[in-house]
Amino acid sequence: MQGAKNSTLPILAATILCGDECVIHNCPCLSDIDASMRILRYLGCSVSRSGHTLVVDTSSMNGDSIPDSLMREMRSSIIFMGAVLARCGRVKLSLPGGCDIGPRPIDLHLDALSKMGAEIREGHGEIVCTAPKGLTGASVALSFPSVGATENIMIAAALSKGTTTITNAAREPEIEDLADFLNKCGALVHCAGEGTVVIEGVRELHGTAHNVIPDRIVTATLMSCCAVTGADITLRDVIPAHLGAIIPVFEEMGCDVKVKEGVMRICAPARLRALKLVRTNPYPGFPTDAQAPLMAAMTVSRGTSVFIETIFESRYKHIGEFLRMGAKVKTEGRVAVVEGVKELYGSSLCAMDLRGSAALVVASLAAQGETIIDTTKYLERGYEDFDVMLTSLGAEIKKI
Ligand code: UD1
Repeated sequence: MQGAKNSTLPILAATILCGDECVIHNCPCLSDIDASMRILRYLGCSVSRSGHTLVVDTSSMNGDSIPDSLMREMRSSIIFMGAVLARCGRVKLSLPGGCDIGPRPIDLHLDALSKMGAEIREGHGEIVCTAPKGLTGASVALSFPSVGATENIMIAAALSKGTTTITNAAREPEIEDLADFLNKCGALVHCAGEGTVVIEGVRELHGTAHNVIPDRIVTATLMSCCAVTGADITLRDVIPAHLGAIIPVFEEMGCDVKVKEGVMRICAPARLRALKLVRTNPYPGFPTDAQAPLMAAMTVSRGTSVFIETIFESRYKHIGEFLRMGAKVKTEGRVAVVEGVKELYGSSLCAMDLRGSAALVVASLAAQGETIIDTTKYLERGYEDFDVMLTSLGAEIKKI
């Protein structure tokens, strides 16, 4: 299983705090990771890749500004805000880009940094944060357990004076992975992965080696590929504790899922059962990132399934493309009702965001005839060699 993109990105940003060499293993080869490497290099750091290992040396860092062109490449560029601010006492950047899945404000990130003593100036799409005397620990209560805000605060707090407490923090496994990395560098981050994270600031951090956790969203996507084709597949490097909300959903669909010593065997029935209700929620709830691939599988199930997307406003763009394939799906606001059909047919489709692209691939595996998906650029943000992986599982798929 490839390493988790959503762990690798904040960990790469956090290497800035060390001013030293860090060796990060199990980094997937993805365009979002390349974008992070470009930001690190722009800031004067040295980064090299050998297979899935990245060696990052941030001792030569000499910049505190990230240009708009680099910020726009992905949403996660915002995680550099806390890291550069903590290291340099100043950071200048613009609003981040990323997939268009609805408004993605950064108010929670800014409010927290301001509570920690940063002075923030915003205007013309640009943000300048300064804290010449360093940040100070603070009590931050998040109104929503934002993953990115929790990460930015943890990173900034690691080198601040005093203790920072984040209540209603995000509990995703990637938050715990970031804390593990920071603690190996000498930080004092406690209770990551729980609702309240406590960070005791330290004066300095040092380099370390770290192994990124497996990607639970790629796992869920491959489980959807298996489910939609009635297949029997084995996935290696799986952490079942991270799939607590995912495995029961596949079991409800009629799949037999067994995990032993990090190896998952999933065996799908000839036709899937519909799901009563899938509601996306912050971890440990069902992940919004797995909603689209799962819905693709449900389009050919027996019966009617209901989805409620609670995290992002526009995360149903794949549905228009499913309809072109003969699926029956109706949406109203955040609710989607999927009436399973016997079969889909191949079409020309347009990919519009990362997880939506993966969903189109899942649906195309079940479709009669050939499907052409225009643009692989979103898929390449989050899935390493997806075509190669699916070919090894018996799919006929070609990247042109
Ligand atoms: C991260 C993941 C992304 C996943 C998402 C939700 C990474 C690199 N990306 O994105 O794959 O889909 O978590 O699990 O880890 N919000 C605010 N104000 C803020 C911040 C967020 O209102 O300052 C809102 C957002 O608009 C959204 C919700 O909170 O509705 C969740 O966002 P957040 O958890 O921050 O997602 P990301 O960190 O961007």
